[in-house]
Amino acid sequence: MLENNPPATIRSKVRLRRAAGSLLEIFKLEKHPPTTDLRLVESEQRYQAVIENASHMIQSVRPDGTFEFVNKAWKTSLGYTDEDLANITIFAIIHPDYLDHCMADFMRAIRGETVEFLETRFLSKDGRTVPVEGSVTSRFLGEEVVATHGFFRDITERLHAREMEERAAQLEREERARYLEKMAALGKLSAGLAHELNNPAAAVQRASAGLRETLQRRDTAMRQLAGVCLDPGSWQAMEEILGQVQPDRSDPVAVSEAEGVIEAWMEDHDVARAWEYAPALAEAGINVQQLAAIANQVPATSLPAAVRWVTETLVFGESTEIIAQSSRRIAELVQAIKGYTHMDRATEHDADIHDGLENTLTILAHQLRNVDVHRQYDRSIPAIRMYGNTLNQVWTNILDNAVDAMNGMGRIVIRTGLHDDQVIVEIEDNGKGIPTEVLPRIFEPFFTSKPQGQGTGLGLDTVWRIVTQEHDGSITATSEPGRTVFHVSLPIASPSETEGAAA
Ligand SMILES: Nc1ncnc2c1ncn2[C@@H]1O[C@H](COP(=O)(O)OP(=O)(O)OP(=O)(O)O)[C@@H](O)[C@H]1O
Ligand SMILES: [Mg+2]
Repeated sequence: MLENNPPATIRSKVRLRRAAGSLLEIFKLEKHPPTTDLRLVESEQRYQAVIENASHMIQSVRPDGTFEFVNKAWKTSLGYTDEDLANITIFAIIHPDYLDHCMADFMRAIRGETVEFLETRFLSKDGRTVPVEGSVTSRFLGEEVVATHGFFRDITERLHAREMEERAAQLEREERARYLEKMAALGKLSAGLAHELNNPAAAVQRASAGLRETLQRRDTAMRQLAGVCLDPGSWQAMEEILGQVQPDRSDPVAVSEAEGVIEAWMEDHDVARAWEYAPALAEAGINVQQLAAIANQVPATSLPAAVRWVTETLVFGESTEIIAQSSRRIAELVQAIKGYTHMDRATEHDADIHDGLENTLTILAHQLRNVDVHRQYDRSIPAIRMYGNTLNQVWTNILDNAVDAMNGMGRIVIRTGLHDDQVIVEIEDNGKGIPTEVLPRIFEPFFTSKPQGQGTGLGLDTVWRIVTQEHDGSITATSEPGRTVFHVSLPIASPSETEGAAA
């Protein structure tokens, strides 16, 4: 608007006053003062006042970059005085990062183009960066551009609000990602656990399903033996022989060979369907000498019944052993789950670090099935103060990464010890190692070297937060190909804390 009214040229206040003064002189001297000049002065004063009091920052800059005029808002925002401005150009107050861009816009304005929208950063006198947005127009004298006029607004507040909004959105995204990571980790753990529980559960089911028939067959054989009136001594002798039978399945070839020998022995002794009994007898670990000893206790005609009785008794014993072992394993797993998830303890407590390590190893048994886990525990180390079950997440994430780094197969060493009143846990793996350039970044949230969809990069971020923030400890990692060590250091529970926890 201003540049379209050449008479309303912006001048400094001094010049304006001088002009008004000289007009006044003319007015005094002349009987009929020229009203056009007076209107000019009045108009100039009006524009001057509007510009001076505008809330926007307004500047007028000559084509050589020197300042012609700036308003009050401009000076208030940036802190320069008229004297300061007399000695600098516009380029001195533009943030270096924005200089190239502003130069280009300035050149456009000098060519007479209007720059409709410009966002830049000014530097205030006290060194602050002031973000502004606005537009730039040109003022002409005839065809020539004599100044550029910039109208700017300080957008610090708005950018700050936008930044806060973005930060909040980012936090929400991170929160969500962490939640999803937890769910994924939980899913992975439960899948492994389901597998671990499934094996003994299936074994119990298989063993118990055959038990009823085994017992029936054993009873039938027993009734036949009872019919020949065996004396108590023979029964006892047979039971003693069976008591000595030990299954040894470490060498399947040996078991298979034993099966052939047993079958041949039974055929030699006229036991019908020898092929049916031989596998179970060989599996159970009985040998032909023991069978011969049993044969000595019964009449030859009752040998087939005795073999059936022996077979079913051994099968029965084995089934009950499988059931006992499997249910022990199930109970162990349930116990580990309870310890791992901390279902039965208060949130804050003192505990032996080894319990958590062992529970975690049990929970991860499926993932660790092809890994040699070496425990180098110092069982004498004192308890540490724990907060909930979160340290188990630490061991889980470190072990999980170790297993990934060795593609599921290798060696893991877990060391515990005491150093300077700190409990130390070291977890070492012989996987591919962490490249030197990657090592400083592994604890960063969302840093992952795994293909998309395989890692969120939150595992070690979680570890770092639990160790340092929740437990006041520290964690470091060292690595070379074939040897990566995570070193966790945790403060031991102080005696007063221990007493408090005990009370
Ligand atoms: N034992 C290790 N051996 C080799 N590299 C490792 C080991 N532990 C961590 N890293 C590296 O550190 C990165 C970050 O690990 P972090 O556990 O934070 O995320 P992630 O395993 O990639 O993903 P997530 O754990 O979320 O599934 C991994 O991608 C891997 O490059
Ligand atoms: Mg991980």
